[in-house]
Amino acid sequence: MKIIETAKEMQMTAERLRLEGKTIGFVPTMGYLHEGHLALVKKARELCDIVVVSIFVNPTQFGPNEDIDKYPRDFERDKRLLDQEKTDITFFPDKKEMYPDQYFTYVQVRELEDHLCGLSRKGHFVGVTTIVTKLFNIVKPHYAVFGQKDYQQLIIIQRMVRDLNMDIEIVSFPTVREDGGLAMSSRNTYLSPEEREKGLLIYASIKRVEELFKGGERNTNSLRKEAEKILSSRDGIDIEYINISDAETLKELDYIQDKKAVLAIACRIGKTRLIDNTILTEA
Ligand code: PAJ
Repeated sequence: MKIIETAKEMQMTAERLRLEGKTIGFVPTMGYLHEGHLALVKKARELCDIVVVSIFVNPTQFGPNEDIDKYPRDFERDKRLLDQEKTDITFFPDKKEMYPDQYFTYVQVRELEDHLCGLSRKGHFVGVTTIVTKLFNIVKPHYAVFGQKDYQQLIIIQRMVRDLNMDIEIVSFPTVREDGGLAMSSRNTYLSPEEREKGLLIYASIKRVEELFKGGERNTNSLRKEAEKILSSRDGIDIEYINISDAETLKELDYIQDKKAVLAIACRIGKTRLIDNTILTEA
């Protein structure tokens, strides 16, 4: 596996591969990889000749109260895991490479950021769309794989690619879970055993809502209340939101009718913020 640290070398390599007729599959990450990330890498491996993974803890998507310095990092371990997945190239730039002095340009997808995580994490999605645009321009992928775990991020990236005519196919991949159902996340390493147990209630509440939906319940208030009941059954789970929204516009729904809906949950357990979601759809 080749490790590339500069944008220029990555661009030249990508250009050469494209001229050779190779398809490039890309998985952007912030590192500290787990099975969820690796499933996206496997997907890219399946779809493309060349797999590029980026590892960059992007400062512009962290808020002033979010401690970027504490974000877990282990490049040696990540490298080993990516090697095992037959990754061709890891793009591993430093902060100065991505945001040199006098950096002024940002990409914003309006409307879709005014919901769910966008409300409590002001500016977060501008940071995401900006870095993803830069990475797309550097890696020049044909395909880019994103996890459904970060549902709002996925929807925003899909819209950005459409709105800005980026010639890239966005592939979405289902959420990979630990035994018991907790969605895998680099942030799970912050959880104590007791907190991890509480985290399982997020999945339990999702399963309960799915079951009620299958049974015919369409009133989102009733569905949300059931999820809330489960999450409130133990102390120490601080619910940020439980929303049922149109799966495309992310606007909250009173009633699920003829539409694909998403149940999205964010909560804080101790100091750790966890998110999860599921799609509610007929059939
Ligand atoms: P990160 O949190 O490292 O996630 C990288 C990719 O892995 C994202 O597409 C995310 O949705 C996916 N992912 C994370 N956990 C997953 C799980 N349990 N199952 C399936 N996929 C999962 O998301 C980011 O980084 C950043 O915002 C980034 C897009 C790299 C921009 O900085």
